[in-house]
Amino acid sequence: MKTPLTASEIRRKYIDFFVKNAGHAEIPSGSVVPENDPTVLFTTAGMHPLVPYLMGETHPKGTRLVNAQKCVRTDDIEEVGDNTHLTFFEMMGNWSLGDYFKKDSIDWSWKFLTSLIQEGGLELDKARICVTCYEGDDLVPRDDEAASYWEAHGFIRASDASPNDKNRIYFFGKKENWWGPAGITGPCGPDTEIFYYVGDLNDPKYVNNEYTPNDEYDLYVEIWNNVFMQYFKDATGGFTELKQKNVDTGLGLERVTSIMQGVDSPFKTELFAPVMELLVARAANFNDHSSRIICDHLRSAVFILGDPRGMAPSNTDQGYILRRLIRRAIRHIHKLGIEDAIAVEIAKIYIELYKGHYSELATRSGFILSELEREEELFRQTLKNGEKEFYKILEGMSKGGMTVISGRVAFKLYDTFGFPLEMTIELAVENGLTVDEAGFEEAFKKHQELSRAGAENKFKGGLADSSEETTKLHTATHLLHQALRDVLGDHVGQKGSNITVERLRFDFNNDDPMTPEQIASVEAIVNDKIKADLPISFEVMTVEQAKAKGAIGLFGDRYGEEVKVYSIGDYSIEICGGPHAESSGKLAEGGKLFKIEKEQSCGRGIRRIKGVLV
Ligand code: ALA
Repeated sequence: MKTPLTASEIRRKYIDFFVKNAGHAEIPSGSVVPENDPTVLFTTAGMHPLVPYLMGETHPKGTRLVNAQKCVRTDDIEEVGDNTHLTFFEMMGNWSLGDYFKKDSIDWSWKFLTSLIQEGGLELDKARICVTCYEGDDLVPRDDEAASYWEAHGFIRASDASPNDKNRIYFFGKKENWWGPAGITGPCGPDTEIFYYVGDLNDPKYVNNEYTPNDEYDLYVEIWNNVFMQYFKDATGGFTELKQKNVDTGLGLERVTSIMQGVDSPFKTELFAPVMELLVARAANFNDHSSRIICDHLRSAVFILGDPRGMAPSNTDQGYILRRLIRRAIRHIHKLGIEDAIAVEIAKIYIELYKGHYSELATRSGFILSELEREEELFRQTLKNGEKEFYKILEGMSKGGMTVISGRVAFKLYDTFGFPLEMTIELAVENGLTVDEAGFEEAFKKHQELSRAGAENKFKGGLADSSEETTKLHTATHLLHQALRDVLGDHVGQKGSNITVERLRFDFNNDDPMTPEQIASVEAIVNDKIKADLPISFEVMTVEQAKAKGAIGLFGDRYGEEVKVYSIGDYSIEICGGPHAESSGKLAEGGKLFKIEKEQSCGRGIRRIKGVLV
């Protein structure tokens, strides 16, 4: 018997196949936090970081690209625990940016899936593969062209097939065979999807072709989606033709790995098995469903924390989702009866497992582990307090014969005790109650409005105007950023910046409040650099060059993109649009000095400094 391929071997094979056979350039995975798309919190598909290039920008690596992209999708978080849903997954993808189109895309997919292992393919059982194509609408006609390329490989339209024919082509409408955009606006188009039958080959219903993709039996697993991306959906919901016809594909690594290993779920592959074994060993009351949730959510948390644009758990935006994932995992750890902290041990397994392909996890392991450790400790306490409160409420309710927990009460549990709604719902269900979720949403709305304002500010430049004073404070911000890294450590990164004519405000990640000594050292460094009157200049370079130069600041995940990099002498090198003072000495004009007026928390793990030149 052949040894089944591991996920990491499959990832490599896929990338090599497209590099060697079809002239694609391998690009690294973009960040899990998308840049320049405030309509979504996470990268949900391989094409997401490539939107500018799908829209017609020239990509420095050419018109054929391939990679495995880290993706996070939390819409189906409630489904995690079944055989297919994951909140983090790797999407392998190959792209044509106005280069090849339907025929080559279909031919290469078929070849990769079915050619022999030693010839670079996956050698999947051909008989188990069937496909779907777009059935057409007013805008785009039925995709007979894509179907014809499948026919050339022996596929038969379902409408013409007799019972023993395999490899059928099914046509579906917009819901099934139209993909995108990833956010509210963006590139999209009709697609052809490839499914793999995982049921019993002797099942009479299979023999008679009674199972179809997208039916309720879930015997056909969707493995690959080839999108023929030639439309742009605008904010009004209208579609316009893109400048170029692209191909965007997505092949789920975890799903393919399960298939290649002959198991019915990714949780039975080497990607999760070591964590599962640990949970089995440590659980007082093991259950598979909770263990899968723990495996999945903590893996997502490791990738979000470990991302170059990653962040700490917080109460807004991505940080909130991250916190929710970690806390849900911990609730299930609690359910398994695991009393001792375990999140860090689990995270170490993932960091080790993925370090070969995603080295950022090892680089950021200190941050990943300390955040998880702290969140687990805090949340175990929250859980104890929240559950106690829940049971008090329950007692009151059963005395009054009530069965619905009001939105107000659920929100109080959330707001005062940090007890997430989903946990209130889970406990309610366990105790035969329901929760007024709409009422909760109403109470939650105000909170969401605040988060949205936070998100908008994050995507703004941070400078209120470009007067001389704000420009000087902007330059002081760069000195401050570097000085904070010198004093507190290299984990410090900018999380927000807002500058007015009077003051700078700088948000950065750091767990603990700064001590008066640390504040004094940072002020002293900034003032030294001001006194040294360091020259300030900028250069335009690619993100890669900026990184190589050791620049700090917000990196994009658009490879090859040109950015401005400002240097203040040799002291600070930072990606930034400017403007800045001509030299650091200008900040001291009028005998001024830099002073930190306030240092305070602004979300867990995030500190805020108010600084002035006085
Ligand atoms: N962008 C396509 C998907 O996510 C390939 O399915």
